[in-house]
Amino acid sequence: MGIFKQPLLATLFLLSLAVQGAFVDERFLSTLRSPRPFHALASQQRNRTCIAPSHGDPSLDDASGILSAIQDCNNGGHVVFAEKLTYTIASPLNLTGLNALDLDIQGTLSFTDNITYWEANSFDLEYQNATSFFALGGKDVHVYGTGEIEGNGQAWWDAYPGNKKLKRPVLFAVVGLEGGSVSQIKLRNAPFWHNIVMESKYIAYSGLDLFSTSNNGNFEKNTDGWDIYRSDNIVIENSTITNGDDCVSFKPNSTNILVQNLRCNGTHGISVGSLGQYPERVDYVENILVRNITMENSSEGARIKVWPDSYSEKSESLTGGGGRGLVRNVTYDGMRLNNVDYGLTITQCYGQDDEEECFKHPSKLNITDVTFRNIRGRTNRVFSPIVGHLVCSSPYTCSGILAENVDIRTINGSNLVTCRNLDTKSLGGLNCTEWSKGYNPA
Ligand SMILES: *[C@@H]1O[C@H](CO)[C@@H](O)[C@H](O)[C@H]1NC(C)=O
Ligand SMILES: *[C@@H]1O[C@H](CO)[C@@H](O)[C@H](O)[C@H]1NC(C)=O
Ligand SMILES: *[C@@H]1O[C@H](CO)[C@@H](O)[C@H](O)[C@H]1NC(C)=O
Ligand SMILES: *[C@@H]1O[C@H](CO)[C@@H](O)[C@H](O)[C@H]1NC(C)=O
Ligand SMILES: *[C@@H]1O[C@H](CO)[C@@H](O)[C@H](O)[C@H]1NC(C)=O
Ligand SMILES: *[C@@H]1O[C@H](CO)[C@@H](O)[C@H](O)[C@H]1NC(C)=O
Ligand SMILES: *[C@@H]1O[C@H](CO)[C@@H](O)[C@H](O)[C@H]1NC(C)=O
Ligand SMILES: *[C@@H]1O[C@H](CO)[C@@H](O)[C@H](O)[C@H]1NC(C)=O
Ligand SMILES: *[C@@H]1O[C@H](CO)[C@@H](O)[C@H](O)[C@H]1NC(C)=O
Ligand SMILES: *[C@@H]1O[C@H](CO)[C@@H](O)[C@H](O)[C@H]1NC(C)=O
Ligand SMILES: *[C@@H]1O[C@H](CO)[C@@H](O)[C@H](O)[C@H]1NC(C)=O
Ligand SMILES: *[C@@H]1O[C@H](CO)[C@@H](O)[C@H](O)[C@H]1NC(C)=O
Repeated sequence: MGIFKQPLLATLFLLSLAVQGAFVDERFLSTLRSPRPFHALASQQRNRTCIAPSHGDPSLDDASGILSAIQDCNNGGHVVFAEKLTYTIASPLNLTGLNALDLDIQGTLSFTDNITYWEANSFDLEYQNATSFFALGGKDVHVYGTGEIEGNGQAWWDAYPGNKKLKRPVLFAVVGLEGGSVSQIKLRNAPFWHNIVMESKYIAYSGLDLFSTSNNGNFEKNTDGWDIYRSDNIVIENSTITNGDDCVSFKPNSTNILVQNLRCNGTHGISVGSLGQYPERVDYVENILVRNITMENSSEGARIKVWPDSYSEKSESLTGGGGRGLVRNVTYDGMRLNNVDYGLTITQCYGQDDEEECFKHPSKLNITDVTFRNIRGRTNRVFSPIVGHLVCSSPYTCSGILAENVDIRTINGSNLVTCRNLDTKSLGGLNCTEWSKGYNPA
């Protein structure tokens, strides 16, 4: 301690030694580490430090150096991405099979926007045509630091309208991770979803700052905050999100999930689904608790979206319907709404523009034990005078839908909610009407 007051200088000095293959004392290296945040403290202290090298040149790919540093420090180490350095990543990073590792991101990781290259080389996540720049998996991996992950999404958002089949990478893909956390870092300009949590369990996300907005007329499409898929025991908390799609989305087989203390701005709400997209599959979403959410400038607040039992083509890249499954035990408790189109949404007609078609082919995916509690605030003019849309595809496909202490009003004070095919007696005095103004298609 004390030799280097400037971490940057220290890092550069040590990097030069590392490049020359010189021995650097672990006691010096460990002074460069960020303190471990709450969720990382749950796992054993790391006893080695590796510094990831950067060429400091955006035309050079830092991926192989990063991979070496990670391999050197795997099984009990701590990798530092040094403060003020930018790491350019121009090729995919297979970070599966990690064990007992901390990734301490103090600098910036910037993914190149060479669409031709990434289309041919990104990881195929085999779900909804999602791909990724890297895949992080293994056991006991903690990612944190005050740094940033930059997805340079603008080029991807600009290319998408002309090529709807373009496979855009997820910015931060956790695939097959058991035990771990992601805290503090900033995620910027995701080409597609910001996070996917896939085939993983016991993962906590805390204190993140997600921000993706387009600087031109090409919308930041599909920039979901989190998509959880085939994962169990996940926490997402204490984060702020500005994007152009779901704030959090519970995709097939999301179970035992806690989402709390989020501020979502410009999103499409916190959504279960879409589910039931593939006829050969069975989708479960169970034991979800969403609490203390501020939702502003959004199309939705609390939403459940399920495909009907008939095939439809929502867009070139999104087609489906007919899948089976169950949504059970989902609670939204504590949501402050401002400038949302709908506060509450249940649809079993996702992807189908003709609602009558859905009533003719009721969903094979039942929805049971859903509670909307302590939800209040204002909707905008989009569906005024209606503030919510609770529409099941038959009287038999939804049960146990409850509302308590819900007060959502349009700017004119109206509080009508479209209610169809559910028991209105358990809706806590929601002002139900048969009148429907439809729902947002995305
Ligand atoms: C470092 O940590 C690893 C993994 O926890 C452990 O196996 C190893 O014994 C530790 N080494 C020392 C010197 O503490
Ligand atoms: C990533 O590496 C793991 C080994 O750790 C390997 O099993 C897997 O096939 C690799 N994935 C890809 C897509 O290359
Ligand atoms: C983008 O990647 C393609 C394919 O790998 C390559 O031929 C091209 O030179 C790259 N473009 C730039 C600007 O780096
Ligand atoms: C994936 O993209 C292809 C076209 O590239 C499309 O036919 C298919 O329906 C898409 N799959 C999903 C699940 O969206
Ligand atoms: C998350 O925020 C809550 C409320 O502000 C706070 O009590 C809790 O300690 C925070 N959790 C973490 C891991 O920082
Ligand atoms: C609710 O979330 C906000 C952040 O949006 C946080 O400041 C506040 O402490 C949380 N309240 C509770 C009771 O955790
Ligand atoms: C909310 O979103 C708008 C654009 O959609 C953005 O300009 C604004 O900065 C965001 N607010 C916050 C607090 O991030
Ligand atoms: C969800 O889990 C069930 C039972 O555990 C399994 O049968 C089903 O195939 C899974 N569905 C998906 C989409 O992974
Ligand atoms: C419902 O989900 C909550 C939150 O995940 C869980 O604590 C509770 O035990 C679940 N209840 C049932 C009946 O499964
Ligand atoms: C929502 O949008 C309004 C108007 O654009 C803006 O004043 C407000 O700051 C936004 N909310 C957030 C959280 O940024
Ligand atoms: C859905 O509900 C119907 C009618 O109550 C029932 O026959 C069916 O078995 C349920 N399906 C599932 C997957 O729970
Ligand atoms: C229900 O909505 C109608 C039409 O806006 C309104 O006249 C009535 O007062 C509302 N009822 C309640 C209980 O809020």
